[in-house]
Amino acid sequence: DVPLNPAILPLDWLLGSWESDEPGEGSFPTIKPFRYTEMLHFSHVGQPVINFMFNAYHSETKKPLHRECGFIRIQPGTNRVAFIIAQNSGLVEIEEGELSGQQMSLQSCALARTSFAKEPHVRQIFRVFQLRADGKLEQVVSMATDDQPLTQHLNITYRRCS
Ligand code: HEM
Repeated sequence: DVPLNPAILPLDWLLGSWESDEPGEGSFPTIKPFRYTEMLHFSHVGQPVINFMFNAYHSETKKPLHRECGFIRIQPGTNRVAFIIAQNSGLVEIEEGELSGQQMSLQSCALARTSFAKEPHVRQIFRVFQLRADGKLEQVVSMATDDQPLTQHLNITYRRCS
């Protein structure tokens, strides 16, 4: 095992694999509410960077749905965190925010997409990750699109599986 780079020590609580403990809840004013399961994997190779993969599935059919992967960095000597993300929908984003204890609040500061990405386009994303006192990890995602102001899209909790 490669030793953890001390730069990412403040995020060591994320490392490993997580699985939704009960199906997550998806919603948005323009869509039918849905439920999904999701696996998260956070790893490192000794660099001052965390690598991540998030894979979501239909909660009943288990069909693969949304997928994203990328990197997490911390600005040295600060509590500023950055997520560098690629999504299977054709979206790429940079999200930045603050780490406070075992909670991160992030917002998109750059978004780009393939020329033929499905509409409506996302204009802004907010996320919060929190390791709760009961040991579960929670993720809440809100977004604004061409048509809708900032509204919650996802709410899910995970239990650690390794
Ligand atoms: C719909 C963005 C994550 C499942 C949508 C829409 C957008 C969007 C823009 C269309 C809304 C509209 O028509 O007004 C995003 C972004 C995500 C994300 C930016 C991550 C940051 C997820 C995840 C799932 C998911 C993890 C889990 C399965 C869905 C479903 C719909 C939807 C089922 C409705 C059907 C469809 O349009 O495909 N999402 N989404 N999304 N999203 Fe997400």
